[in-house]
Formats: sequence, C-alpha cells, structure tokens
Amino acid sequence: MTRTAILAGMGAVVPPRSVENEELARTLDTNDTWIRTRTGIRTRHWTDTGTSTGDLATAAGARALKSAGVDSVDLVILATSTGNQPMPATAPEVAAALGLGQVAAYDISAACSGFLYGLSAAAGAIASGVAGRVLVVGADVWSTRLDPQDRSTTIIFGDGAGAAVLRAGHADEPGALLGFDLGSDGAGRELAQVAGGGSRERGSGRPPSPEDAYMTMQGKEMFTQAVNKMAASSELLLERIGWSAADVDWCAAHQANVRILHTVADLLGLERSRMLVHLDKVGNTSAASIPLALTDAAVSEQIKAGDRVLMTAFGGGLSWASTAMRWPEIDVMEISTDI
Ligand code: UT7
Repeated sequence: MTRTAILAGMGAVVPPRSVENEELARTLDTNDTWIRTRTGIRTRHWTDTGTSTGDLATAAGARALKSAGVDSVDLVILATSTGNQPMPATAPEVAAALGLGQVAAYDISAACSGFLYGLSAAAGAIASGVAGRVLVVGADVWSTRLDPQDRSTTIIFGDGAGAAVLRAGHADEPGALLGFDLGSDGAGRELAQVAGGGSRERGSGRPPSPEDAYMTMQGKEMFTQAVNKMAASSELLLERIGWSAADVDWCAAHQANVRILHTVADLLGLERSRMLVHLDKVGNTSAASIPLALTDAAVSEQIKAGDRVLMTAFGGGLSWASTAMRWPEIDVMEISTDI
C-alpha cells in the first residue's frame, strides 16, 4: 500500500496582545459595526516589539511536537510570507530553536495558501521516503507590514502560528491526507503584494520607497477570486478523492472574511454551519489560519475523531490549495499565548 502522510499532532499560538475593533477605530476611519458586519472579525492579536515570525513558529511547533508525543522529525517546512529576514529562510532557525538538530528545513512562500502547500510538500517527502516524520508550520506576522493608514488591510490581518506533525502511514488510516489540488495565477500578483524588498525593486535603479514595504490588497477582487478559487479547487479535490459535498462534516477554509466562507459553502452546496469560523477571534492570520481554525475546533470538540474534514485556501500569488482527511484520534492543546 502507498506510504501516506498522517496527521499525528497539532499546536497553535497567537501573541498575547489582542487588538479590538474599537482600538482600530480610534486611529482609522472605521468602526466596530462595519468591521463585524462586513468581515465577521471582532478582534485579532498583534505581536509586541521584539517578537518575530520565527518565535511564533517555534512556539507552535513545540506544541505540535508535544501533541504528537515526539521530539524529533526529519524535515521542517515553514510556510510564511513574513519570514524573519529575506535571506536565509526562517525554518532552519525554527528547527534549531526546537532542538531538532541539523535536519532539512526550508520555507514556502505561498501567502495564505502556504500551510496547505506545506502539507503537500510534506506528503510528497513522506510518500517518496525522503522523510518519515515532518513538522509543517504556517506562521505570519503581518502586523509588521500593515500601513497604519490603510483600513482595508489593517482591520483584517492578525498574527499567529499553527503547526502539524505528519508521520508515515497508510491511506486507510484516520488522519491520512487523501489528495491535493494546488494552483496559481501569477497574472494576479498585484492583487495582494508587498511590492518592495525584492529583486524587482532592488534592480529597478530607483531608491527603495518606504511605502513599498507595506502590504497592499485590492479587497473586492481578492474577495471574488477567493470565493471562486476555493470553491473550484474544493470541487476538484472532492471529485479526485471520491467524496461528495454531503460527505463533508467540516470545511476549514482560509479565514479572510465570514462572507467569503458563507459564499464558498453556498457554491459547494454545504450547510453554512459546516464552515469552521475562527476569524472572529483572530482575524486573517494568513498561513496560520487553517491550523489555528482546526486547533480551535478540535479543542472545543466541534471536530471529533472520524469526522471528514475538507481544507481549502486562497491567497496572494495568486495561489490556492485544497486537501482533506478523516480527523484522527489526537490530543490537541488549546491555542496558547505563551510565546
Ligand atoms: O487573505 C488573502 C485573501 N484576502 C481576502 O480574501 C480579502 C477579501 N476582501 C475582503 O474581505 C473585503 O473586500 C474587505 C473587507 C477588504 C473590504 O470589504 P468590502 O465589502 O469589499 O468593502 P468595499 O471595498 O467594497 O467598500 C464598501 C464601502 C465603501 O464605501 P462606499 O463607497 O460604499 O461609501 C468603502 O469606502 O465600505 C467602505 N469601507 C469601509 N468603511 C469602514 C471600506 N473599508 C472600510 C472600513 N471601515 N474598514
């Protein structure tokens, strides 16, 4: 039987400082009612000075290793678009901080789809025998890249990290990643981007502009793309693994806006109540959003062992991804603010 990646443990963290809608409304032309009704977000967590993406990733990784009951892996994959620095990757630092030794470690840059891209890379490494056990972390600290004047991004994004340990097993075990659908469209690059800091800007001959260090987003177009791409990718995935919408107990979709979650459910023919909603507590945490939502749902026993879980994500790139599993019997600790 084919070697398959199995979910063995999960862990997640958010920084301790919570930033309420009311606090944002003191400096931006916005208000709590607008943010709640147009996005579903009530609060989010932002890091304090001195905390990096690597710190959050390490804390989440430690909890995932504990959840899986292991202290070693063969590979660490960190999905992030806000790494500690442009070079080198942050994953080796995380591996070292976790005391994992000189294991293979690399970053994946796929914005909000990064965690599912990471699961797919880990599943490939396990299937091919490159690794027997993999730590996949999704972590982002977008608060350091938000233009404080930009209400379309500042109200949405929160910081956080979520991690999963995958082990080798068989496709018929609970927790097996049953298949993937992945895609990208570079023609949409400018819809959500940090324009500065890369070779395009550095090679332009122009002095770097401080504004280009901020993330910009064309919200309306991203909304439409998010709905269409997550629905289409989910449908392809379900067909590939032989599930119908009626088989899906829970859908962990990228948490950007509750209206996106509802529209994806409608397009897929899923009850809206099947969509996990965690963004009210943490906002859009980019690469961390799916493992945070899953951790929250597992701890509250919303998701139970044996439940069929569809995961789907969309983000900058453009990028999108979907996968699915039957939820395994694992011990998951609540989301921590201990970084
Ligand atoms: O994570 C990667 C993927 N990202 C996404 O999927 C993000 C998807 N986009 C969104 O979630 C939404 O587009 C936003 C939350 C960013 C914006 O919501 P919207 O409903 O698309 O707002 P809009 O830009 O269409 O603006 C509607 C109205 C406008 O006023 P008028 O012209 O109708 O008078 C805006 O000026 O709402 C106004 N507005 C706001 N008002 C208060 C826009 N943003 C705000 C705000 N507070 N923060």
